[in-house]
Amino acid sequence: MPRLVVVSNRVAIPDPTGKGSAGGLAVALREAFQARDGLWFGWSGKVAANPSAEPKMTDKGNVRYALMDLTATDRQEYYSGFANRALWPVMHYRIGLSEFSRADYAGYLRVNRTFAGALARLIRPDDLVWVHDYHLIPLASELRALGVANRIGYFHHIPWPAPEVIGTLPGSQDLLRAITDYDLVGVQTERDADNLRRGILQEFEATQRTADVIVLDGRQTRVKGFPIAIDVSGFEQAARRPATHRLLQQTVASLGSRSLIIGVDRLDYSKGIPERMEAFERFLISNPGQRGRVTYLQIAPTSRSEVPEYASLSRTVSETLGRINGAHGEPGWVPIHYVTSAYPRNVLAGLYRIARVGLVTPMRDGMNLVAKEYVAAQDPEDPGVLVLSKFAGAAEQLGGALIVNPNDKVEVAEAMSQALHMDRVERIARWRRMMDVLRRYDISWWTDAFLKELAGQRRSGKARSPAPV
Ligand code: F6P
Repeated sequence: MPRLVVVSNRVAIPDPTGKGSAGGLAVALREAFQARDGLWFGWSGKVAANPSAEPKMTDKGNVRYALMDLTATDRQEYYSGFANRALWPVMHYRIGLSEFSRADYAGYLRVNRTFAGALARLIRPDDLVWVHDYHLIPLASELRALGVANRIGYFHHIPWPAPEVIGTLPGSQDLLRAITDYDLVGVQTERDADNLRRGILQEFEATQRTADVIVLDGRQTRVKGFPIAIDVSGFEQAARRPATHRLLQQTVASLGSRSLIIGVDRLDYSKGIPERMEAFERFLISNPGQRGRVTYLQIAPTSRSEVPEYASLSRTVSETLGRINGAHGEPGWVPIHYVTSAYPRNVLAGLYRIARVGLVTPMRDGMNLVAKEYVAAQDPEDPGVLVLSKFAGAAEQLGGALIVNPNDKVEVAEAMSQALHMDRVERIARWRRMMDVLRRYDISWWTDAFLKELAGQRRSGKARSPAPV
């Protein structure tokens, strides 16, 4: 079996306390190393005045971690600037929020080139290289320019928008060309795959060899949907464990006989958190009998707070929360509970299990693993109901959820009411439908399907010149 080299912006070295990162990418990639030895390369998350050109190496089990520090300018331009202020909003169809700067774009290309230089020295001829996330789109071009001819795959964890949308971003033509330096590109949904293939075909004189395969300048790239998944049985087990964490015990104690509605999201405008709070307010207005009988818990760990749009979102959420709780709360009942800490996976699993409704209503989302985790955590004899945005990638697989348009607060409010009133027979039938899919396409399916497909690709052809930095 060839050695696996994973590259991602965030690298999750297992925590000595056993807690580790609860993020979907971290869990998914750890699974990829279960059956394979390998190397995991990426940013250390640290800033240094004079970062070394060589990564810091750490061995844990069968994985060697190679971590690069960045300068403060690199972090600002590559991570906060181009990746999260220009690219992220466009990928999530929020063109109006995208702030492009040439300096940031140059920083993004520069960091990709630096990473490629350090990584190329570690790659062996037969390694399978698997790059993750939008921070690293140009990495394959940079590696190819250094003579790396290995099979290189890329997985895009966030949505890939329609060609007209991505076309608004300066530099998007370079990114589309750079993506064709990968042998295999995985995206979350068939819609994303179609958008990306159309983008390449419209922008260049490329040809479509088969439904999935695009050929540009003699190089062949396969673009396919591989919906990311979760460790279903691990999550089921975590949800069955007795509640020992303080948050879980307090939530159970304070709920009494009230029903719990839960939302868990990074504090990001793509997640639709203020919109969801307003939908809950609409639900309270339309269902006065539910006042004092339902609590909505929103867990929203703070994220990317150095990016102005995230700071502004944080203010909007606090204002919306304060207004709704002030207008509708009563002594002894706060309608919305809001916490910005991150909680470990087992605590979330326990909370999902006691929640009658899982509210997952992003305005746009690549997949949304919370939707899958909520389903996996349910009691098979008495499951809760998932209310899911049609704009989350998960909606392509989870037809048993109540699918809503998050832009319509009345529709989301009605779905909350329907979920709370749904009889047990229907809840079980919907849950089983979703669990069948989750069990069939779990995390080992995802890693195996992508890596098998990548290993089966023809070796790459000639290198192109990468974009100037
Ligand atoms: O969803 C895309 C993604 O990059 C994930 O891979 C990652 O876990 C998440 O966003 C968190 O973002 P950040 O690394 O900026 O905190």
